[in-house]
Amino acid sequence: MKSITRRKLINLVGKAGGYTAVYNTMAAMGLLPVPAYAGPPQLAPESGRGVRVVILGAGMAGLTAAYELGKAGYECVVLEARNRPGGRAWTLRGGDRVEETDSVQTVEWDRGEHLYFNPGPARLPQHHAAILGYCRAFGVPLEVIVNDNRNALLQHDLAFDGKPVRQRQVRGDIAGHLAELLAKALDKGALDETIGDLDKEKLLAFVRGFGALGKDFVYRGSPRAGYEVLPGAGLEFGTLRSPLALKTLTQSPFWQLTASFPDGFTQAATMLQPVGGMDRIAAAFAQRVESVIKYNAVVTRVARAGESGARVVYRDRNATETAVEAPFVLITLPLSALRRVQVDFSPPYQAAAAAGANDYMSSGKVGFYAARRFWEEDEQIYGGISWTTQDITQVWYPSTNFHGHDGILLGAYTWTHQIGERFAAQPPAERLRRAIEQGAKLHPQYPTEVAHGISVAWSKMPFSDGAWCEWSEENRRNAYPVLLEPDGPFFLAGEHLSNVPAWQEGAILSAHKAVTAIAERAAARKI
Ligand code: ALA
Repeated sequence: MKSITRRKLINLVGKAGGYTAVYNTMAAMGLLPVPAYAGPPQLAPESGRGVRVVILGAGMAGLTAAYELGKAGYECVVLEARNRPGGRAWTLRGGDRVEETDSVQTVEWDRGEHLYFNPGPARLPQHHAAILGYCRAFGVPLEVIVNDNRNALLQHDLAFDGKPVRQRQVRGDIAGHLAELLAKALDKGALDETIGDLDKEKLLAFVRGFGALGKDFVYRGSPRAGYEVLPGAGLEFGTLRSPLALKTLTQSPFWQLTASFPDGFTQAATMLQPVGGMDRIAAAFAQRVESVIKYNAVVTRVARAGESGARVVYRDRNATETAVEAPFVLITLPLSALRRVQVDFSPPYQAAAAAGANDYMSSGKVGFYAARRFWEEDEQIYGGISWTTQDITQVWYPSTNFHGHDGILLGAYTWTHQIGERFAAQPPAERLRRAIEQGAKLHPQYPTEVAHGISVAWSKMPFSDGAWCEWSEENRRNAYPVLLEPDGPFFLAGEHLSNVPAWQEGAILSAHKAVTAIAERAAARKI
C-alpha cells in the first residue's frame, strides 16, 4: 500500500516538475543515495550579465571561478602572470623551462606521452569529488596512480645498517609484533578489567589474525612481510624473512609514519591521476575560458575605486600598464605571492593576509629521466613510493607504461620547511648531485641510470613563493576566518582558504564559495 502511494506521488511530481523534481523528491524521501558533494554552484543563466569580475590568477581557483561565473553570463577578466594556466598545477615535458628567481633550467629529455613530471600536485584522492566532477564533465581521462606499494623501499640511515627494507616487511612486522604483545597481555589476564564483556577467546583469535601470529600466538614473520627465498615449484617451499626488531622499528617515528602513510584519508587507494600529466585538468578548464584569460599580465596594484568597486592595474609583456575596473575582484594568488602586490585591503585584512603569507611550505621536487626501468626490471617495483630519512624524502616510480623502455622518476619531494629551505638554497646542479647520491642508498644503480634531472623549489618560483599554505594553529584560528569574508570589493579564494589545503580540491571548493558570495552580492545590488 505504502509503495503504491509513493509511486503515485512520484508520478505526479514527474508530471509537474520533470526529471529534476523527481530526482530531488526521491532523494528527499531517502529512496536514492545522495552524493556527499552537491556539485558546483548553480547560478541562474544570464544572472551575471553586465557584471564584471576581475580574477587574479589562472590557477585552479581562478579557472574554476571564471568557468562558473562565465556560465552565468558574468564578464570575467582573468589576469595571469605566467604564460600558461594552472598555477602550481603544472607539468614539465621535454624542452620546457623552469625559471626560478635565480636560475633557469631546461628539461633535457625527449618528448613522449609518458615522459612528464608534475612538480606540483600529482595525485587525486577518490573522494575529491569537485575536481573529479570537472574531470568527468570535461572528459579528462584518469588512471590509477600507485600511491601504496608494499614492494617499495624504506631506508633509514640509522637502522638496519642503512640498508633499505621493503615496506611490506615494516608493515607486516609492526602488526605482528604488536599483536604478539597484545596476545601476551591478554593471556596473562593483564587486560581482563579493560576488555569488559569481550569474549577473550574470540578477541585472541582476532588478534592472531590481525598480526599473522603462529598458533602459539608468537610472531615469527609471515608472507605479508615477505620471503627471504621465494616459494617456487617442486620442493622450493620458500623461506620467510626473519622479523625486523621491534626495538629498531620503535626507535624512530619514520617507520610508523611511512608504513601508515597509505592509510591516510587523502592518500589511501584508489588514488587517481590525469593521463599524460596533471596540467590536463587546468588545460581543460582553460580551453573553456580561454577568451577571458590574459597571460603575461602581472598585477601591480589593486585599488578601491568609485563607490564600491575596484581598479586593477597590470603590466603586460611589453611593460605597458593597463587598468581595469570592476565591482568585484577575486584574488586567488597564494598569500605568499600576494605579498608583492599593493592592495587596498583594510588594516585587519592586510594583517591577516600578511600572517598567512608566513605559513607557506617551502617544498621542492626533483625529476629524473631513466633510459631503463631498473626499478621494475631489477627490483619488481611497479609504481608507488620509496621513503628515506635523507633530504630527498621520497622517490616515486611511474604508474604507467610498465615495461616500457624508459620513464620519469621523482627523485626528491621534500616535506618539511627546513629541508625545503635547504633544498631551495642549493643551485639546481647541487640539488641533482645530492638527489643522486641519496637515491643511491635506495637504488645502487642510480648514479649510472638516472639522467637529465630537473628541480623545482617552490619558494623560489615567481608568482608562487611557496608550495602550499600550512596554516599555523594561531593563524588558522585568527587570520583564516578574516580572509573567508570579503573586504569591500575584494574576495579571496585558493587552497589556502579551505580545509583541504595543499590540494586542488581545496582551491576548487573555495572558488565555489567565492562564486556564490559574489553572485549573492550581485543579486542584492540588482534588487
Ligand atoms: N597534497 C600534497 C600531496 O599529496 C601535499 O603530496
